[in-house]
Amino acid sequence: MHSLGHRLNCVFQIAAVLLALLCAFASLSDNLNTPSVHANVQVLKVNWFRKQLNGNDEVTLTLNISMDLQSTFTWNTKQVFVFIAAEYETAKNSLNQISLWDHIIPDKDHAKFQTQIMNKYPLIDQGSNLRGKTIGLVLHWEAMPKTGRMIRDGLFLSDFHLPDEYT
Ligand SMILES: *[C@@H]1O[C@H](CO)[C@@H](O)[C@H](O)[C@H]1NC(C)=O
Repeated sequence: MHSLGHRLNCVFQIAAVLLALLCAFASLSDNLNTPSVHANVQVLKVNWFRKQLNGNDEVTLTLNISMDLQSTFTWNTKQVFVFIAAEYETAKNSLNQISLWDHIIPDKDHAKFQTQIMNKYPLIDQGSNLRGKTIGLVLHWEAMPKTGRMIRDGLFLSDFHLPDEYT
């Protein structure tokens, strides 16, 4: 005869194994999802482009963005963090990456939208390298799962050219 304690122990062991399997399956099914993200961004206006007193270039932009990240959501997705980065090269750094805007998408129903925004964070260079510079705009996203590992990916959107002179 098995004691009650022994039986309970078995139940817990089975529950633990099932939970582990479920987590593994959740992670695996996330890996099988290959999202196809569609996004567009246009620079509608360079609001100002100036050199700060400390000598660093500063730019503010109005962006028209649209994106459809619905395919990044699976049943295991808690939320998706998105940001748009300005990326460019300078003599000092091969990649400068500056976040201009970010957003947390809470669910699939809010994962498709179009909006016009000013950059939430200014584009500030470490120096005065931005006149006439080509800037790449890249959409990055991080899908935070309920269980398993975070999935990061990105999509190059477009290039734009900053003016040759400050405004
Ligand atoms: C903003 O982008 C959307 C979708 O890409 C487009 O339909 C719309 O005409 C754009 N608005 C402006 C002011 O360019």
